[in-house]
Amino acid sequence: MQSVLRSYKGIFPNVGERVYLDPTSVMVGDITLGNDVSIWPLVAARGDVNHIIIGDRSNVQDGSVLHVTHKNTDNPDGYPLIIGKDVTIGHKVMLHGCTVGDRVLVGMGAIVLDGAIIEDDVMIGAGSLVPPGKRLESGFLYVGSPVKQARPLKEAERAFLQKSSDNYVATKNDYIAEG
Ligand SMILES: CC(C)(COP(=O)(O)OP(=O)(O)OC[C@H]1O[C@@H](n2cnc3c(N)ncnc32)[C@H](O)[C@@H]1OP(=O)(O)O)[C@@H](O)C(=O)NCCC(=O)NCCS
Repeated sequence: MQSVLRSYKGIFPNVGERVYLDPTSVMVGDITLGNDVSIWPLVAARGDVNHIIIGDRSNVQDGSVLHVTHKNTDNPDGYPLIIGKDVTIGHKVMLHGCTVGDRVLVGMGAIVLDGAIIEDDVMIGAGSLVPPGKRLESGFLYVGSPVKQARPLKEAERAFLQKSSDNYVATKNDYIAEG
């Protein structure tokens, strides 16, 4: 039986301390998971044609798909997928070859495409689409398909970005204790 963590071309995922990996998730190849990361049911991440990094305390919720774009002559670095610290990736999100800063919330069902850059402290509404190469400015709520800047985040929403991460760290600790 295949395990959650799988190698590709001899490269095996690198997993930090106290990470929770749901047994139905799949992590392939060049993936680095920071400390206290949680990966929930049915998440699929393929670090095959480029690498994936997920920062400390970030959570990737059920059914999300993470992938990358290969390197080529027009684009020598390709598009890796870099996720910062204390990031909340909601249910059934698609992240493809993009860069996500710290304390970002990506709403459920959102799609973020190659080369997009999400700065720190951003909230992306459920069901939004972030087009290739788009940059989302720190401190704002973005919604829609394609996303538009909706308004500055309220103080409570900014605080919630950290709170959401803290909640998921506590929940994954419960799951780890459950065995
Ligand atoms: C966007 C969001 C943060 C709410 O923002 P808000 O400003 O409080 O939203 P409101 O309910 O006041 O609605 C404001 C407007 O935005 C619209 N709206 C709300 N959420 C939207 C979304 N995700 N996409 C597009 N439009 C949205 C509302 O319909 C409303 O439109 P109207 O003014 O024409 O009636 C919230 O709806 C959302 O998407 N949260 C993400 C939750 C999530 O996925 N969490 C993941 C972890 S489980």
